[in-house]
Amino acid sequence: MGRDGDRDPGRDVDPLTSLPARPTLRRMASPVALVTGAGVRVGRAIALDLRRHGWEVAAHHRSHRPPRGLVALPADLAAPGGPEALARAFRARFGRLDLLVNSAAAFEARPLADTDAAAFDAQMDLNARAPLLLSRALAPLLRRSRGAIVNVADIGGGLVAWKGYAAYAASKAALVRITECLALELAPAVRVNAVAPGTVLWPESIPAARRRELASRIPLGRAGTPEDVAAAVRFLAGAPYVTGAILPVDGGRHLSGRGGGGVDNSG
Ligand SMILES: NC(=O)c1ccc[n+]([C@@H]2O[C@H](COP(=O)([O-])OP(=O)(O)OC[C@H]3O[C@@H](n4cnc5c(N)ncnc54)[C@H](OP(=O)(O)O)[C@@H]3O)[C@@H](O)[C@H]2O)c1
Repeated sequence: MGRDGDRDPGRDVDPLTSLPARPTLRRMASPVALVTGAGVRVGRAIALDLRRHGWEVAAHHRSHRPPRGLVALPADLAAPGGPEALARAFRARFGRLDLLVNSAAAFEARPLADTDAAAFDAQMDLNARAPLLLSRALAPLLRRSRGAIVNVADIGGGLVAWKGYAAYAASKAALVRITECLALELAPAVRVNAVAPGTVLWPESIPAARRRELASRIPLGRAGTPEDVAAAVRFLAGAPYVTGAILPVDGGRHLSGRGGGGVDNSG
């Protein structure tokens, strides 16, 4: 048993989950994922991780071109019509979609006094509106493949409040609620989940001593990595009985709650 020659072709195992493969994944060479913001940092790590694990990856970007081996699709997702244009470009290249990962986002610290309408809208447009509109445009393809959506939220806003980030936090809170609403609306055909990372790449503005101090207050004793987020995204992509989940990927940091001892980048 276990050798290729012994395998019953009707009982293939999905390499992503070690579970019996869904019929849609069994019949095709590679499942197809679209990852937004895949040219740099966390989105890039998610795209490369999926690629390494046998997915064909369409890598959306705006200014940073994704690495070779991924199909690059440029779009400004904050612009009116941007998400729909990306969906059109995707459909022109691919006949199917098994996974949409919404990772592109803007991250801006802004005290209340500096948060005018334009600043608020800029965070909401990219971080909440674009994932919703892209999900809407691609839902027919995802339904056909019985696929999944994984949104990249943040513990800041997604799970706890952060001082000095009202607009960003509101946009991530909106993304979490959009995730839950779409999990209901697209079930049972499409599963919709989110990851809520803690710090996995430090903002450049935070000095090394402050980073060490903040990391020492995280229950698992370290900041995360983009690869930690990628592994969680891949888990949710392949978890057949999970929908509407918001998975913290933060070393336990959210357990400190809003006040008492929470690790806040802004602090
Ligand atoms: N870094 C962390 O520690 C951390 C922690 C918690 C949550 N997250 C979440 O993880 C995700 C990725 O974070 P990151 O730190 O890797 O992000 P980042 O470095 O700020 O990169 C932002 C990404 O969004 C894209 N983007 C920005 N404006 C865009 C626009 N108008 N249209 C289309 N794409 C646009 C960028 O594309 P181009 O570069 O190609 O322009 C880039 O790929 C985000 O959702 C973030 O909120 C990150």
